[in-house]
Amino acid sequence: MLGRLVLIDAGPLKPLGAIMRPRVFVTRPLPTPTLDLLRSQCDLELHQEDTPIAPAQLAEICAARRIEGLMACGARVTEQVVDSAAQLRVVSNVGVGYDNVDVAACTLRRIPVTNTAGVLEETTADLAFALLMAAARRLVEGDRYVREGRWQQWQWSLLWGADIHHQTLGIYGFGNIGKAMSRRGRGFSMRILYHSRRRADAAVEAELGATFVDRDTLFRESDFVSLHVALTPETHHLVTARELSLMKPTAFLINTTRGKVVDEEALAAALASHQIAGAGLDVFEQEPHVHPALARLPNVVLAPHIGSATTATRSRMAALAAENLLEVLAGRRPRYVVNPEVYS
Ligand code: 8YV
Repeated sequence: MLGRLVLIDAGPLKPLGAIMRPRVFVTRPLPTPTLDLLRSQCDLELHQEDTPIAPAQLAEICAARRIEGLMACGARVTEQVVDSAAQLRVVSNVGVGYDNVDVAACTLRRIPVTNTAGVLEETTADLAFALLMAAARRLVEGDRYVREGRWQQWQWSLLWGADIHHQTLGIYGFGNIGKAMSRRGRGFSMRILYHSRRRADAAVEAELGATFVDRDTLFRESDFVSLHVALTPETHHLVTARELSLMKPTAFLINTTRGKVVDEEALAAALASHQIAGAGLDVFEQEPHVHPALARLPNVVLAPHIGSATTATRSRMAALAAENLLEVLAGRRPRYVVNPEVYS
C-alpha cells in the first residue's frame, strides 16, 4: 500500500540487471526545474502533497520501490527508513539542519547524508532580525490594534517598545547564520557579543566587531539573545529557567534554529511573569503544536518555521539538494556532506 503516493515517470519496476537509471524518491513537490533535472537523470517518484510523509510510509516506499536516492524535505528519515531501504545510496536533506535524519544509521551503512549549507544563511538571519524588530517594536500588536478598529486617535502612550539601535545583541552559536546576524546588528550600531563552542579567529572577530563571552555573560548582558546553534544532544534545552533568570527584564529572546533548544514551558512562564520583556520564535518544541501559554501571550511574536522561506532561497535549496544527490549517485563526492567519515 503506497498510500497517497503519486508516481511520476516511474512505471513498473524494471527487472534487476537491466540498465536502469537510479530510482529517486522526493518527499515534497519541489520546484519544477529541480524535478525536471532529476527526471532527466533518474526514475523519479514524488510525494506530491506538501504534507509530511510518515516514516512508516516512507520506509514502505523505499523498500517497495528499491529507492537509491532520497530527497528528504520536511520528512523524518528514521532508522526504520534507513533499514528498510536496502538499496539506499544517499540521503539528500533539503535544509541545513539535519536533526530529522538518523545520521548514525546512515553512517553505519556508509550512506552519505548531504545538506543545503551555504544558500539559506542570509535569508534565515533576515527572519531572525525581522522577529527581533517585530518583538521590540510590538509590530504584531500594532497590526492587530489597527485591524480590530481600536485605533481611534493618536496616543502618546501607545505601544511603547524597546530600542534596537545601540543595544547589545548576544549571538549564541557563531556559524554562518550567527555571523550573518552579527552583520545585521552592526548595521543597527549594536554592540555584538557571541558565544559558541569554538571561538572565532581574531580576524573574524575584528571584521564583525564581535566579542566572545562565556554563556552566562551572554545571557546577562544582552538586550537581545538570538540562538543559532544546531540541535544536538548538547544543545537540547540550552535555554532553561536558569538562563532566562539571568536575562534582563528588558531583554528579548529570538529563536530561529530549533524549538527543542529552548524549554518552552520555562519560556512561557518567563514571558508571562515579565521576567523577560519578549520573544520572537520561528521554531517550537513540537511543531506545528505551539505551547498554549505562548499562544496566549502578547509579548511573543510567533512564526510558522519560515526562516528560509523566500522564493529565491527555497529554489536554491531544492537545486543544491538535487545537485548533492546526483553527485553521490554519479559516484562523486558532493559539496556538502554531513557525515564525511563515510568516505574514509
Ligand atoms: C527547512 C530549516 O525548510 O534548513 C533548515 O534547517 O529549518 C529549513 O530551512 C526545513 O528543514 C525543512 O526541510
